Amino acid sequence: MAFRALVTRKDESGKVASAIEEVDEAQLPEGDVLVGVEWAGFNYKDGLVLTGQGGLVRDYPHIGGVDFAGRVIESRDGRYHPGQGVILTGWRVGEIHWGGFATRARVKADWLVPLPRTLTARDAMVLGTAGLTAMLAVNRLKAEGVKPGDGPILVTGAGGGVGSIATLLLAQLGYKAHAMTGRPELAETLTRLGAAEIVGREVLAATGKKLLTPRWAGAIDSVGGPPLGELLKQVRPGGIVTAIGLAAGDGWDASVVPFILRGITLAGIDSVMQPSAARVGAWERLTSLFSPKVYDEMIEDAQLEDLPRLAGEILAGRIRGRVVVKTSS
Ligand SMILES: NC(=O)c1ccc[n+]([C@@H]2O[C@H](COP(=O)([O-])OP(=O)(O)OC[C@H]3O[C@@H](n4cnc5c(N)ncnc54)[C@H](OP(=O)(O)O)[C@@H]3O)[C@@H](O)[C@H]2O)c1
Repeated sequence: MAFRALVTRKDESGKVASAIEEVDEAQLPEGDVLVGVEWAGFNYKDGLVLTGQGGLVRDYPHIGGVDFAGRVIESRDGRYHPGQGVILTGWRVGEIHWGGFATRARVKADWLVPLPRTLTARDAMVLGTAGLTAMLAVNRLKAEGVKPGDGPILVTGAGGGVGSIATLLLAQLGYKAHAMTGRPELAETLTRLGAAEIVGREVLAATGKKLLTPRWAGAIDSVGGPPLGELLKQVRPGGIVTAIGLAAGDGWDASVVPFILRGITLAGIDSVMQPSAARVGAWERLTSLFSPKVYDEMIEDAQLEDLPRLAGEILAGRIRGRVVVKTSS
């Protein structure tokens, strides 16, 4: 049987391009569970895959889509049965394994998480990898002992997927989120999500100093690069910075000074290879904290054919919040 997919191909000159194709189900990769994909998420990494950047894809033709939700069609694993709602994020699906930009995906049962009963497949993709990662970062701040009364938490890239959901989750838990955005026009929306203060990117502009006045008890950082270096200089003694992404680059001029004089911690967050039990726990918590209604104005609905255009938009930092992709036409 054939299914519909956004297929990414690389030509002899090395140019990567994607188009809608009918693909035979027999071409799907190995796996225990065949899923009828209803909705896919759209992430920074999907932008890299669709434009052939970052060396994420090994073999072409490829089907991208690092997260998806849908219903089980066939299963060789006792944990999943036909008709059951499921979510997949990470495990390098959409990078080295065919992903969710299609109406069918075949994956390992171990990679799936049951769709929580209170979420629709679309809600699950509003959250997607971004929501799971934001939840893991918030959990890490809490696990390291950062409490709402300790001071404000800086969220960078607050207009993007991870940042906007992190802002909402922190506010729900009583933290004062300072939302950093390069887009002042998002101030009102971010305030409605729960941001206590909106700050511009200039708060992390290069200073050339080793330390700055301590300001934040912690941070959820999805931009990395030189702004992360400046952020570390402004974290209060004992504070925690969770490093998630690299929208502003993967390196900075590092110094041990904030670590040894203020005892701060830089904690990496990896949602991709997160063990199954931790994912199920994080999804349960997300389900209780996240309100799709409150987040509504940060959601853009798209179809598979919109994604080549949206890839450029997300890499340029122009997407607000989350894009959800309906896979059927
Ligand atoms: N570790 C993990 O498991 C994991 C999981 C998910 C995502 N990530 C990574 O996290 C990052 C964010 O992902 P996402 O899906 O949230 O992407 P996104 O929706 O594109 O959000 C990124 C945001 O970063 C800000 N930004 C972009 N370029 C910037 C620059 N040069 N300087 C400062 N800020 C900049 C923009 O927000 P404003 O316009 O509001 O400033 C942008 O909306 C990506 O690098 C992604 O690969 C990692």
